[in-house]
Amino acid sequence: MALTRRVLVTGGAGFIGSHFARHLLSSYPDYRVTVLDALTYAGSLSNIADLMENPNFAFYHGDVRDAVVMRNLVRNHDWVVNFAAETHVDRSILNPGSFLQTDVYGAYVLLEACREYGGKRFLQVSTDEVYGEVLEGFADENAPLRPRSPYSASKASAELLVMAYHQTYGLDVVITRGSNTYGPNQYPEKMIPLFVTNALEDRPLPLYGDGTQVRDWIYVLDHCTAIDTVLHHGATGMVYNVGAGNLLKNRAVAEKILELLGKPASLIQSVTDRPGHDRRYAVDTSRLRAMGWEPRWAFETGLKQTIDWYRSHRQWWQEIKGKGEYQQFTRQWYHERGGLAPSQEVHSGAVKED
Ligand code: DAU
Repeated sequence: MALTRRVLVTGGAGFIGSHFARHLLSSYPDYRVTVLDALTYAGSLSNIADLMENPNFAFYHGDVRDAVVMRNLVRNHDWVVNFAAETHVDRSILNPGSFLQTDVYGAYVLLEACREYGGKRFLQVSTDEVYGEVLEGFADENAPLRPRSPYSASKASAELLVMAYHQTYGLDVVITRGSNTYGPNQYPEKMIPLFVTNALEDRPLPLYGDGTQVRDWIYVLDHCTAIDTVLHHGATGMVYNVGAGNLLKNRAVAEKILELLGKPASLIQSVTDRPGHDRRYAVDTSRLRAMGWEPRWAFETGLKQTIDWYRSHRQWWQEIKGKGEYQQFTRQWYHERGGLAPSQEVHSGAVKED
């Protein structure tokens, strides 16, 4: 079959990126998909192992900050979808520099490559966190950007650059601002996979503060179809909110996980709150829905599916949780900062050097 489009997915060995690469290959058999990934701590070839045999798929190990590599790759593709990012808010509080490097400078390198070769469509995968906390109502795409963490400030900065390249150089760009995403293959530092895997091992679920913060949860496959819709049909220079409207308090999510696993609510442990913790996110998705997109996964169905995956892929997450890098982060974040006793480990196994 003649290939009609070549799509470069940066950060495609990470959580959402790997699902998106798989989604493209199965939905568009006439597309060629290249994943570029630096394989830092949260990216893994195991997330895309099933794609390696596909003749329309290629993997490239590299860094979005590497201008030479990115120019060579971008030159041979029609569309660029940029997932490459540091994404964990807590890590951005400990180490903001790597977020500026990857999320902001990496976006700049990609944009420069697109500018040089021309004719590319660039989709920036962003986040609803750029609005900062939305204490009431729903933020639409015209709401001001008020990021409050080094992570969200980096993502907002990248967005501004993307828009500047659209205005100044006429680059064809679109931006998606996604809400909290969950599903299989998510690195077990984010709340849902951390809580599910801890519960599976009867370890504490470290809930920040009073647990009344609200997030809008979207299943990863719904997030992928939303990005697909914007990639194919989004108007150039336009931003699209992505969310499924499942607004839930963190404590309710923790309780639901424990209920589905048949574990006691006493596993929930209050720990010191995240500094600058945004109390609520909520986005208005009518612009995206007007293009015919709608979420397919009810929260409970998606959560059950996610729990089943973590149950049947113990080796995948136990290997991660056994790594020295993971254990150093959790020790620093949850024990030294958060007040969890050393006996209340959030990971399994002895500390190992990577
Ligand atoms: O809103 C989209 C964003 O969602 C993405 O752009 C980010 O990359 C992604 O990390 C996520 O950000 P959050 O900070 O909302 O996700 P996280 O899973 O870290 O936390 C979800 C909520 O749960 C948040 O209110 C903090 C809380 N939490 C999190 C962890 C890791 C806890 O109470 N305990 C925890 O141990």
